[in-house]
Amino acid sequence: MNSCLDEPISELTDLFRPYMKGVGSVIDIGTGTSIPIHIFADSFPAIKFYTTDIEDQRQRKKLPFILYDGITLPFGNQKFDVSVLNETLHHCENPETVLREAHRVAKAVFVVEHFPDPGVSTEELVKGEFSTLEVLDLECSVYNPFDEDSLLSLYRKLGLEIKAKFEIPYFGNRKIKKYFFKLVGRMEEE
Ligand SMILES: C[S@@+](CC[C@H](N)C(=O)[O-])C[C@H]1O[C@@H](n2cnc3c(N)ncnc32)[C@H](O)[C@@H]1O
Repeated sequence: MNSCLDEPISELTDLFRPYMKGVGSVIDIGTGTSIPIHIFADSFPAIKFYTTDIEDQRQRKKLPFILYDGITLPFGNQKFDVSVLNETLHHCENPETVLREAHRVAKAVFVVEHFPDPGVSTEELVKGEFSTLEVLDLECSVYNPFDEDSLLSLYRKLGLEIKAKFEIPYFGNRKIKKYFFKLVGRMEEE
C-alpha cells in the first residue's frame, strides 16, 4: 500500500545518513502508516528500529510496535539512541508532553516539522494537510501547525539545543517548507 512513497523516501534517506553514525536504536513516535520509517529502516539494516503511536494505523508491520496513551512512553530514560518525530508534533493534543517524553527516552531527538509558506491562509493550509492525510489513508483529528518562532520557543522551553538543521526537499502540493532538526538536551553530551 502507498508504494508511491518508496522511491522519494529512499532518495531522501541519504540526507540523513551523516546523522545516523554511531546510532544503534531508534524509536519512531507517532508512526502513522509506518511506511516512511520502514523504508528508512531498510537503508540502515544494522540499526534496531521500534515504533509507537496512540492508535494503530500501520500499513507496514515488520518493525516492533507498541500502542501507548499519548502521554507517557512506556520506556526507561535514554533507552534509545534516537527518537524520531516525523510530522507528528503538529498532530498532538499536547506537543510539549510528547516532545518532553521523546527527549526523556532517547539521547537525541530527530524532529521533522513543516512551516507554512508566507501569506498562505489557514484555510488553504488545513485543506492541504487533510487532503494529504486522505491520500495516505491516515486519520488525525488534531492539526496545529507551528511556525518557526513557536517551534523554537518550544525547544527552548524544554532545554533542547539544535545540533543540526536542514531544509528537506518537498515536492507535494501543500504550501509549506519542511525541516529536519537534530536536538539534544542543553546539558548533555551528544
Ligand atoms: C501525520 S501522522 C505521522 C506520520 C508518520 N510519523 C510518518 O512518518 O508518516 C501523525 C501521527 O501522530 C500520531 N499522534 C497523535 N498524537 C500523538 C501522541 N500524543 N503521541 C504519539 N503520536 C501521536 C497520530 O496518531 C498519527 O499517526
